[in-house]
Amino acid sequence: MGAGKSTIGAEVAQRLGRPFLDVDREIESTHGSIWELFAEQGESAFREIEARFLREACDRREPAVVAVGAGAVETRELLTELDALVVLLEVDVDTAWERVHGSRRPLAQDEAEFRRRYESRRPLYEQVANARAEGADGVVFAAAGIRFASHREVRSDAVVADERVAELHRIEAKHTVPPGEAAKSVAQAERLWRALLLDRRSTLVAVGGGSTTDLAGFVAATYMRGVAWIPVPSTLVGQVDAAIGGKTGIDLPEAKNLVGAFHWPAETVIDTTLLETLPEEEWANGAAEVVKTGLLAGESLWELPAPEQVRRCAAFKAAVCLRDPFERGARAQLNLGHTFAHALEAASGYTLSHGKAVGLGLTAACRVSGLEEEARLVEELLRPEPVRVDRAAAWAALARDKKSVAGRPQLVLLEAPGKPRIGVEVDEEVLRAALDALIV
Ligand SMILES: NC(=O)c1ccc[n+]([C@@H]2O[C@H](COP(=O)([O-])OP(=O)(O)OC[C@H]3O[C@@H](n4cnc5c(N)ncnc54)[C@H](O)[C@@H]3O)[C@@H](O)[C@H]2O)c1
Repeated sequence: MGAGKSTIGAEVAQRLGRPFLDVDREIESTHGSIWELFAEQGESAFREIEARFLREACDRREPAVVAVGAGAVETRELLTELDALVVLLEVDVDTAWERVHGSRRPLAQDEAEFRRRYESRRPLYEQVANARAEGADGVVFAAAGIRFASHREVRSDAVVADERVAELHRIEAKHTVPPGEAAKSVAQAERLWRALLLDRRSTLVAVGGGSTTDLAGFVAATYMRGVAWIPVPSTLVGQVDAAIGGKTGIDLPEAKNLVGAFHWPAETVIDTTLLETLPEEEWANGAAEVVKTGLLAGESLWELPAPEQVRRCAAFKAAVCLRDPFERGARAQLNLGHTFAHALEAASGYTLSHGKAVGLGLTAACRVSGLEEEARLVEELLRPEPVRVDRAAAWAALARDKKSVAGRPQLVLLEAPGKPRIGVEVDEEVLRAALDALIV
């Protein structure tokens, strides 16, 4: 009581695109106020009704977010039996009492009694919880399997690491891969498939940036038809984007990320101290994704200090991916600015850095959206300089975009910051003019 389950539950449900069921409110809407229910029929009657509502909520075919107290033995038994992720919302007793005293809650009338109940119930709650969390981001992390911890805590017989990261952070890795994009090749995948001595219950750990985690995740998805894997991202791009959401893949000479699989990690472990050795240009690549996330979320996430920035961006991406794990809808918003960026990268023969390309792509997406102020903000934050590439080659690449439908590029635009629109088809002249403006 007083943990914030109604408020946090509603926010989590909205972010995950799931229905929200607040057991207390459901009871009140059918049985009248809980205060009266307690007074007239006693606590045990309330507990019986609570358990029944919880069972009904969990029997629904559509997955939902359910807010429920776990005071009753029946409820706790149910929570252990049900195939549901049970997240314990952390709250200290002072905050909880502050929130509930003076309210018409039957069990929040006497402070000493409230504190005693809190202490005696806490271990019982812990027994039934699969995870603990503070706030809505914490619940999203629990649902996505994201944990903030030292990379040293993650142990495995099969560690695949970027060789530079392994050296810089003294990571003992049985399998090292070349730094950066060179890791994402069929040859590297084959080398790992043949060198791994795992059984189907093994877990593969991948330490490195998006290149290493994309490769290792793909190898994990395909080795013995799929083994568990844990990415430990070492770049800002990895921590706010690449290691979250289960997209894995490798490149072919024909195109980047042409072969891959969706394979959600068993866990993602984020250790922001790994970023201490990150070179400046890699920070810049990450900054572009942070600005993209801030525009999609409608929050100035770029203003936050690094660890908080990582948390908020990671939580945003995780929620979008949980909502749409196989990119059939909402997840496409993560492509904001990327249609232009990919075209410029391809036209440059991949000499243009991803961060610079995304910076340019974001200004174009804001301008096509009619958001001049946001376009200028992106310019101020990322300082993207127009690039010298062949216009015809850039246009041809844009028209070939992987996400095109019947040859027509599908853009992500913004109605306003925080309000993305996906699958927008834009007039050819508008698109050409926007792309041209990015090229000198
Ligand atoms: N799966 C996804 O959803 C997803 C999302 C975004 C990007 N990606 C992919 O991620 C890749 C890019 O990954 P990236 O930007 O994380 O970089 P990266 O893995 O390509 O690494 C870039 C460079 O940074 C170095 N590096 C990494 N961590 C370091 C550290 N802690 N200290 C010092 N140097 C370090 C690497 O050795 C390398 O030289 C692309 O292939 C892209 O397609 C995937």
